[in-house]
Amino acid sequence: MPGRQRIKMDKSKRKTVIAGNWKMNMTPTEARKLACELAEALSCTDTAGSVEVVVCVPFVDIFAVSQVLSGTPIKVGAQNVHFEKCGAYTGEISAPMLAECGVTHVVVGHSERRQYFGETDETVNLRAKAALETGLTPIICVGELLSERDAGITEEVVARQTKLALAGFTAEQVKRTIIAYEPVWAIGTGRTATANQAEEVCAYIRQIITNLHDIETAEAVTIQYGGSMKASNAAELLAKPNVDGGLVGGASLSAAEFAEIVKAAL
Ligand code: PGA
Repeated sequence: MPGRQRIKMDKSKRKTVIAGNWKMNMTPTEARKLACELAEALSCTDTAGSVEVVVCVPFVDIFAVSQVLSGTPIKVGAQNVHFEKCGAYTGEISAPMLAECGVTHVVVGHSERRQYFGETDETVNLRAKAALETGLTPIICVGELLSERDAGITEEVVARQTKLALAGFTAEQVKRTIIAYEPVWAIGTGRTATANQAEEVCAYIRQIITNLHDIETAEAVTIQYGGSMKASNAAELLAKPNVDGGLVGGASLSAAEFAEIVKAAL
């Protein structure tokens, strides 16, 4: 990206976060088993202080997974949240409900929700705000379609999604937010972005945050990469200076594979 001012980045100023996104997989019985296997696979791995590990599970699995993982450093996340605290919103789940169940993180604006469930930049903003107000960490997903990358508008798309998602946030709220850069063409396709492509867009997102607030805020924000991250490519992606973790779909359904990704982040 010629002409762009490169910001010198210090990774120690922010957390590396590896989050599994189980999507619509795992009944509570299956979820309990996978959580047990994951706790076991990571039992000898000291992640304290260096890597935060989260599993974002279906709502109905939260109780079982929280029980299994209590007393471990692995945190429990959800995959969506409504922006009102309570009310006549049949089928929805609010941030206070999640928090009381022990949830610490929530995925917001995943491309599957944007694509299939009418999620917009505006509702992403409302959901992330509701999460923050309840003390949850939103993992806000942004990323371009293949047609948008091919048309050369990746930056435009990611800039719009990021700015609208963070609209009205204070610098302190931005610092408590995780952004996941997930190129839609890499999700569930086995086609991973190259480490350089991931780095380029993650660095660009940090530049956007710098422009919105300041460099200190931008340096504090965890920016993950997501899209066919697996044990075999995690180390290369995570070695990049602006890639601070991963949002992992398919590979998070295997405890052994997910544990390898966590280890690649250490
Ligand atoms: P994937 O999914 O790792 O299966 O590509 C990533 C995601 O959708 O968060």
